[in-house]
Amino acid sequence: MKICVVHGQNHRGNTYRLTQLLLEQLSCEKENIKEFYVGGIGQCTGCTQCILKDENLCPHRLSMKPIVEALEKADVIILASPNYCMGMTGQLKNFCDHLGYRWMSHRPFDMRKKIGVGISTTAGMGAGKTAKELCKQLFWWSIGRTYSLSFTVNAIRWEEIPEKRILKLNRKVQRLAHRINSRYGKVHQSLKSRIMFKIMTLMHRNMEWNEIETAYWRANGWI
Ligand SMILES: Cc1cc2nc3c(=O)[nH]c(=O)nc-3n(C[C@H](O)[C@H](O)[C@H](O)COP(=O)(O)O)c2cc1C
Repeated sequence: MKICVVHGQNHRGNTYRLTQLLLEQLSCEKENIKEFYVGGIGQCTGCTQCILKDENLCPHRLSMKPIVEALEKADVIILASPNYCMGMTGQLKNFCDHLGYRWMSHRPFDMRKKIGVGISTTAGMGAGKTAKELCKQLFWWSIGRTYSLSFTVNAIRWEEIPEKRILKLNRKVQRLAHRINSRYGKVHQSLKSRIMFKIMTLMHRNMEWNEIETAYWRANGWI
């Protein structure tokens, strides 16, 4: 199993710890795990060159390239972000904006057989919402199965979390790891993903709003 993790924060806090707990339980050799921190990527300028022409025209293509390559190779893709003001971190959102051209509605890399995981922690509330927000990005990248993993720490530091809560969290992580390990290699695209892919197929067949996208869908044999 190959895993690509995109961390939405540069520090190794609660979200990082939770992500490591999951990684420890996945059937994957350490050398097959690639982890990225996206805080250093320049802000998306909104030039839309990636969507209208070519992602290689992006001013931040050099920062994006190794991550995109790892995403393509991975069987499991994890997006991890603390809840900041009821959403993912700005850094991770900026990274996701750079992948707008990869949305199912544009030129998706075929990720229908991949598994995606959205991970988030929060102090009080909002981790579930943030993890779902991450899953939404994964869904639109065309990932066939997505899971969310969220945790309310009720503390500032990981070490301050009561043991009872950590035990509960461990069980949650174990259940998710079991699901992923047993699905690996035989991922069935979710119904929702299949329906949306079909809608996109019809859209690209009938609208032809962007020649590059129509050609891309044709070349992939999707239309
Ligand atoms: C800028 C910022 C915004 C935050 N917003 C919220 C919030 O809206 N609700 C909440 O319960 N906790 C909020 N928190 C707390 C974090 O979500 C929480 O401490 C989280 O576990 C931090 O994860 P980390 O250690 O991986 O950074 C915020 C923290 C920061 C720094």
